[in-house]
Amino acid sequence: MTLDRRIVTLLACLTVGTVVGVWYAVTHHERTQSYDDDDNDTDAEPGTFASTSLKSVTVVFRHGDRSPAFDYKTFPNIYENNFPEGKGQLTKIGKQHMYQKGKLFRRLYNGFISDLYLDHEILVKTTKYSRTFMSAAMVLAGMYPPKYYQKWSFSETVWQPIPISNDSPDQTMLFRNGSCPYTIWFMKNDNDVIINNYNETQIEELLSHLSEKCGIPINIEAMFDLYDLFKSMISNELQLPEWINHEQFQLMELIYYEQTRRVYNNKKIQNIIIGPLIKQISLNMELQSNSPDYIKTKNNMHLYAGHDMTLGTMMYFLGNNKIKLPDFGASAHFHLYLNKTIKVFYYNKWDNENGEEMSIPKCGYSCNLDDFVNLINNEMSTEWEQDCQIEGN
Ligand SMILES: *[C@@H]1O[C@H](CO)[C@@H](O)[C@H](O)[C@H]1NC(C)=O
Ligand SMILES: *[C@@H]1O[C@H](CO)[C@@H](O)[C@H](O)[C@H]1NC(C)=O
Ligand SMILES: *[C@@H]1O[C@H](CO)[C@@H](O)[C@H](O)[C@H]1NC(C)=O
Ligand SMILES: *[C@@H]1O[C@H](CO)[C@@H](O)[C@H](O)[C@H]1NC(C)=O
Repeated sequence: MTLDRRIVTLLACLTVGTVVGVWYAVTHHERTQSYDDDDNDTDAEPGTFASTSLKSVTVVFRHGDRSPAFDYKTFPNIYENNFPEGKGQLTKIGKQHMYQKGKLFRRLYNGFISDLYLDHEILVKTTKYSRTFMSAAMVLAGMYPPKYYQKWSFSETVWQPIPISNDSPDQTMLFRNGSCPYTIWFMKNDNDVIINNYNETQIEELLSHLSEKCGIPINIEAMFDLYDLFKSMISNELQLPEWINHEQFQLMELIYYEQTRRVYNNKKIQNIIIGPLIKQISLNMELQSNSPDYIKTKNNMHLYAGHDMTLGTMMYFLGNNKIKLPDFGASAHFHLYLNKTIKVFYYNKWDNENGEEMSIPKCGYSCNLDDFVNLINNEMSTEWEQDCQIEGN
């Protein structure tokens, strides 16, 4: 009897103990999971650029991989079948890449920016396109997984709301929306120049091959649209049509690069597309450095989501004329340091981990802030309406 009772008591104690133990383990585990970084702890390390001398960072990046941007008579069902998100939209792969890009920004600037999302620390602007806005949202998800008390749900570990505004002064839209007579005129004229600069026989052979396969006449402009389709197919891991071989694709690419080079290198186009943006960047840095508490003021970071045109014209303006076509997720980083010098870095693709330091015209690798501001004020105007007029009109 006594023995039985003791066993029962012991069993009861064990049961209660186990229940308490399991309860403790579960809740405790949940706590550790919710307060620690459950991802990879490398984010806890100070970022590559985190140093007490860095004061302000502006990053301009191209959106992630997208669907093609045109209509194709030859591929009438391309959107329904292969790009269900529609024309010119960020694709699933594009989302994944931009999320990784955000993680890279965290690795570069951890410590310069806080673990927590703080409204006064970061400002994000995009152009009025869904793909740039969505790219910015993915980048922010990569940069700011909710931590500590900002964890608003035990099951949500990735996303927290962060404001994005779509009023970037980037004027890339002008290039496509038909409101800038100069760029329309330039593109028309330029196609003839490109053909004359190349082996005409080779281009004509290519165009007649494409026309035959597509069943409609393909001129150089239509070829650029086709190139855009093929490029989107490749980046989204789709098979190209079997009638386009490697040499033909490479020739298309060569001619396309010749076009982008001529566009990015055009001073007027640089001014039209990025004049207002680069002025805003230099003004922000100037304002920050003129604050009476410059040394004590908070760090700040500005992100601008833009396009290949944005980065291409910006790189050519800075004197980097090796760029062909800034890849998806490429980025340009402007750093302002405590000693009022500026450095610029370029990352040529979403997965490029080690950017390249860029030289700045009249400055070299680092530029005194005043010299930088003078350079921008002397060489860039914000009068795009005026620049858009065709000379002689
Ligand atoms: C954590 O990061 C290291 C170094 O970047 C990497 O080798 C490892 O695969 C990562 N682990 C996980 C679980 O992601
Ligand atoms: C074209 O783009 C410019 C620059 O973004 C914008 O100011 C203008 O309103 C747009 N025009 C049209 C017709 O959409
Ligand atoms: C142009 O291309 C054609 C066809 O590929 C070739 O036969 C010809 O030699 C080329 N001409 C020049 C000047 O390179
Ligand atoms: C300013 O500070 C940066 C970062 O510490 C440094 O790389 C640069 O050489 C400094 N420039 C001058 C002119 O002191």
